[in-house]
Amino acid sequence: MHLLSIDDLSDDQIATILDEGERWFSYNRQPRRNDHRLDGLTVVNAFFENSTRTLLSFEIAANRLGAQVVTMQVEHSSIKKGETLDDTARTLNAMRPDALVIRHRTSGAPASVAAIMDCPVINAGDGTGEHPTQALLDAATIRQHFGRVEGLKIAICGDLKHSRVARSNAKLLGRLGAELRFAAPPSLMPDDLPGGALDKAVEGADVVMMLRVQRERLEEELGDAPGEYFERFGLTEERFATAAPGAVIMHPGPINRGVEIDGSLADHPTRSLIVRQVEMGVAVRMACLDLLTAERLPR
Ligand code: CP
Repeated sequence: MHLLSIDDLSDDQIATILDEGERWFSYNRQPRRNDHRLDGLTVVNAFFENSTRTLLSFEIAANRLGAQVVTMQVEHSSIKKGETLDDTARTLNAMRPDALVIRHRTSGAPASVAAIMDCPVINAGDGTGEHPTQALLDAATIRQHFGRVEGLKIAICGDLKHSRVARSNAKLLGRLGAELRFAAPPSLMPDDLPGGALDKAVEGADVVMMLRVQRERLEEELGDAPGEYFERFGLTEERFATAAPGAVIMHPGPINRGVEIDGSLADHPTRSLIVRQVEMGVAVRMACLDLLTAERLPR
């Protein structure tokens, strides 16, 4: 089994990952952790795009389960000599890893690699495609905070066009029964998600999930200067005041402060779940690695 898309997971597998993720979250807060269920297994991370949260949390997750973890140094690899991604996959496969975690700028690249590999492949973000473990950690964070996902009004706002996080969350949070609202500036509205105005999406929402403006994927610079973007499409204190009482703020990170979100909202001590999302990321990725490797190598 691979985890390339939320579509790869059954409802039972989603429930298992969310339940186990919450359990690992508590476990990770213990002063010492000595689980060894992935003892003797090798997890390879191959990140062809930059990452802080996803790469480090997969490394920590695999280490906490007792696996041997190897992170490919892409900048120093033979990709730089012109080796193709398929040939790189054949090379990695010959080293017999037990799981491969891959991030790539091309949508669909992890699926091409998975077709070559004999081990489970986890998509850690592919272009504008999907980022399934981000959606799983987002759902786990929401469920931990509210005790449920079903029936919550969740606004997903910002650069929808380039957001793999939005695509995976649209699938997952929708399957879990949330009432989803989407908002994007006209130039960042995708064809495959419904879009609307930011003010309408935020009003009465229980969760406001802001997305990063992905400047690295923009073919032309935004017409708006960052300050103008913030005024028109950013989460300001005034806009957030129209959300439901007890509403929370989420963001997958990294944040462009003063562009898509006011820095004081991102740092809000009770309303911002952004740091909690990062903590949940390690826990949910432990649950994912456990599930995928256990299917292949029953323990
Ligand atoms: N949310 C996320 O994918 O962050 P990184 O790019 O730091 O991994």
